[in-house]
Amino acid sequence: MDLPHDDYTLILRTGDPEQIFLLRGDLTRETTDALVNAANSDLLPGGGVCGAIHRAGGPAIAEECRRLRAQRGPVATGQAVATTGGQLPAKHVIHAVGPVWEGGDHRESELLASCYREAMRVADELKLHSIAFPAISTGIFGYPVEQAAWVAIPTAIETLQSAKHLVLVKFVLFDKPTLDTFAKAAMAQRRPASGRPYEVLIGTN
Ligand code: APR
Repeated sequence: MDLPHDDYTLILRTGDPEQIFLLRGDLTRETTDALVNAANSDLLPGGGVCGAIHRAGGPAIAEECRRLRAQRGPVATGQAVATTGGQLPAKHVIHAVGPVWEGGDHRESELLASCYREAMRVADELKLHSIAFPAISTGIFGYPVEQAAWVAIPTAIETLQSAKHLVLVKFVLFDKPTLDTFAKAAMAQRRPASGRPYEVLIGTN
């Protein structure tokens, strides 16, 4: 399947009704039940998608982050915690701490997989139906996009299969090269070594 030159949405029908969408966009505008912040361990408002989420969601998110940080200490890499979505369309923000890329032999892929799994586990515990992710760790934390895609997609598919409430996972990718890289990984893994094969559909926006 060739990828369109213009924007598109790639849909992976991993179950019935479970689906994964890949699209280009601004995560802060997503109307899913939760969106995932590429956070830091101290839950401080940072740059990148984290800064955008705090700006768009208003001070209620940072206030809850401060409370959580004081109660429970820093969030370990690979873990996730939920706060309000403040003024965002999404009711909840799930703050997941991705690994900093250190060359690939410092458990980066394991920790990145854990981020996606833990964020989805937190959402499922809150009985949410839909969640939207950015490409965690691929900005300031320096994780190569293609390698991140090969972790993110199979982890989301596998975790969605065992979720009780979640039926929709969106990857909302900020630029077209990142969308294309994630889309290619999703198409190449159509028949994963473990798990069911899935149907891939493409829609133009
Ligand atoms: N919507 C979707 N994706 C976005 C947006 C947005 N509004 N803004 C940025 N991105 C993309 C980036 O292009 C990148 O592909 O999110 C991806 C993750 O990049 P970062 O936000 O830099 O996150 P990360 O690499 O995980 O670094 C996390 O940065 O902001 C700090 O507090 C954060 O310390 C933490 C670190």
